[in-house]
Amino acid sequence: MNNKKILDNLRDGLPFPYTEKDAEEYILSVLSSDKSKTFAFAITLDDKVIGSIGVFRCENIHSRTAEMGYYIGEPYWGNGYATSAVRQTCKYVFENSDIIRIFATPFAHNVGSCRVLEKAGFRYEGTLHCNAVKNGKILDMKMYALIKS
Ligand SMILES: CC(C)(COP(=O)(O)OP(=O)(O)OC[C@H]1O[C@@H](n2cnc3c(N)ncnc32)[C@H](O)[C@@H]1OP(=O)(O)O)[C@@H](O)C(=O)NCCC(=O)NCCS
Repeated sequence: MNNKKILDNLRDGLPFPYTEKDAEEYILSVLSSDKSKTFAFAITLDDKVIGSIGVFRCENIHSRTAEMGYYIGEPYWGNGYATSAVRQTCKYVFENSDIIRIFATPFAHNVGSCRVLEKAGFRYEGTLHCNAVKNGKILDMKMYALIKS
């Protein structure tokens, strides 16, 4: 998380530099969260954490929809780990909750993340034009969704 290449592809509000205390706080918040609304996992390789993934239930009329986010440490990119984590997490959420739709909205320029979602079976539903401001730039985002079969 102390990597701008990772943070630049995530929402704002994450601490930089990211300290061990920040990580502890995130883990504690996940552990104390409502288990029917938050599905968060460490992504591990040989018992070592190499990334993080979470699926978060939306509210109101979207209560059976959930948003997914994830990242992998840069030394581990390009080995299929994110794709595997996305597949496993979605399977878990569909089997263990009433959620019927999981979506993700990578920045349109985040080709790697779009590719992960496509490989994991997500469908590209369209581009959300001018949907975010990140580092002072107005950006398009792409809507990908996986529907429970
Ligand atoms: C996006 C991210 C999660 C991908 O993790 P990963 O473990 O490398 O992903 P995978 O290896 O499963 O798949 C990556 C795919 O994207 C492709 N890819 C990556 N960068 C690419 C680029 N610039 N152009 C084209 N393809 C690219 C890879 O070739 C691979 O596809 P392939 O298997 O068909 O060759 C990782 O780069 C990351 O953490 N980025 C920063 C945070 C982030 O973007 N999170 C997602 C927010 S929506």
